Amino acid sequence: MDYREYIAKKLNTEGVTPSDIALPPNSEMGDYALPCFKLAKVFRKSPVQIAEELKSSFTVDEVISEVSAVNGYLNFKVNKAGLANEVLTQIESDGKDYGSSKVGNGKTVCIDYSSVNIAKPFHIGHLSTTVLGGSLYKIYKFLGYNVVGINHLGDYGTQFGKLICAYKKWGNKEEVEKGGIHAINALYVRFNEEADEQMEAEAREYFRLIESGDKEANDLFEWFKKLTLDYVQKIYKKLDITFDSYAGERFYSDKMQPVIDELKEKNLLKESEGASIVDLEPYGMPPCLILRSDGATLYATRDLAAATYRKNTYDFYKCLYVVAYQQNLHFKQFFKVLELMGKEWAKDLVHVAYGMVSLEDGAMSTRKGKVVWLEDVISKCVEKAYAVINEKNSELENKEEIAQTVGLGAVIFGALYNNKIKDIVFSYDKVLSFEGETSVYVQYTCARANSVLTKSGAKITLPAGYEPNAQEFEVVKALAAFPQTVLDAAEKYEPSLIARYAVDLAQKYNKFYIDCKILTAEGDAKDFRLALTKSALQTMKNALSLLGIGVPEKM
Ligand code: ARG
Repeated sequence: MDYREYIAKKLNTEGVTPSDIALPPNSEMGDYALPCFKLAKVFRKSPVQIAEELKSSFTVDEVISEVSAVNGYLNFKVNKAGLANEVLTQIESDGKDYGSSKVGNGKTVCIDYSSVNIAKPFHIGHLSTTVLGGSLYKIYKFLGYNVVGINHLGDYGTQFGKLICAYKKWGNKEEVEKGGIHAINALYVRFNEEADEQMEAEAREYFRLIESGDKEANDLFEWFKKLTLDYVQKIYKKLDITFDSYAGERFYSDKMQPVIDELKEKNLLKESEGASIVDLEPYGMPPCLILRSDGATLYATRDLAAATYRKNTYDFYKCLYVVAYQQNLHFKQFFKVLELMGKEWAKDLVHVAYGMVSLEDGAMSTRKGKVVWLEDVISKCVEKAYAVINEKNSELENKEEIAQTVGLGAVIFGALYNNKIKDIVFSYDKVLSFEGETSVYVQYTCARANSVLTKSGAKITLPAGYEPNAQEFEVVKALAAFPQTVLDAAEKYEPSLIARYAVDLAQKYNKFYIDCKILTAEGDAKDFRLALTKSALQTMKNALSLLGIGVPEKM
């Protein structure tokens, strides 16, 4: 059990949750500390005074051995042997489930992520939504939620008429079969560069044919869709990403009318220059466009239908949309429209916005008209991982396999390490560094722990009543903090908390590894250190696996 939870419960004070309790960087003052600054507002007293008051009403026990109030902090010293014993026993018995929970039982979370656009490049811009969504999917499952992963395909719109037109004019079957998404994307790009009035008219006609159910047009469309999905699924497999539904925009073709009718009924639909809109001026937003003047529906119309469908189908507790912050307004608008329609569940829709990813050499800039395909970033990272590993240890067996795990991990970790809203510049050298705050560093630490355990060969028994030293206890506290970290990551939709946690734990383990002998220690110290090593390895693995990252046995 995390003692932060224990302390928070014992404090039993309004506004104090386990995550408010900090792990001070040095344990001299205390093993845990509650900063009282936030509480000053709630209680309208100074932090110093609050700390003093909390201290005087707190009784020490066999878990918390000492409390002190210093400069607005309430510091706790805990029974180190007790905590170590509890945590290591827990990890030993939970294994790969350590950190999991049942809090989500009976609740469903929908996660709309990665949402591919048919026939368009799957580029580095899709990295964050894919790995963020993928990680949230794993985190919520780990916490006992029922999770529905949804790929809201971009498969609706006039561009598919254009694509068919381009294919008919310039394409051929063999080439497209062979070139897959690259070939169809090239046709689409060519259409946009070369199409004349007549082709534009033909494209509109093809789109109409798709809509009216024409067989040939629909077969072609389905084929393009299949080629796109076959392509992305290979990438999903590598990144360990799963979906439960591929219901895309087209799926809602026949589900928009009821929403439009309801908007009318509720007097929310207004005419504006021939178009139908929902006025959002009172909320400081531009109007939400529902129907264009030619009667065509829009992205928002389909999202209104999709949210309604998801509520009816899955009865979600929350529905997350992992989409770039460029679409902030879109989500605010259609969430508001649902609220105005009286859907009380509109409050359960969450836009999980994230920042942009660009490459260090600026190759992503659309100015140069160059798109960086995600597939290429992955291959390059795996290739570079091979070189890095080979340089470090050329004797290693299964270097290819290890390079896969390390390279893929680096791509994922590179996108997940920072707070999600930050724009990031992706650098191959940085993400593949053994030294920095990287997955490679954590994986290497795991390999180190693994090798200690292999070398020892002994059966590990946790000695009773062992009093851990400072470095050992830092690792113990970090281990104890894992379950709460997972809960925080879910609550804040922030897998970066787990990524940072993994690095922090690895750093503490390494400090312990360097400062304390393990294999040459004796008696209880040796037993405890081996048990600690085993628990640290397990917990680092659990943390990385929630990000979708594997751990090689050796590196
Ligand atoms: N396909 C869209 C895009 O690339 C993202 C879709 C996100 N999901 C949603 N329900 N709007 O911009």
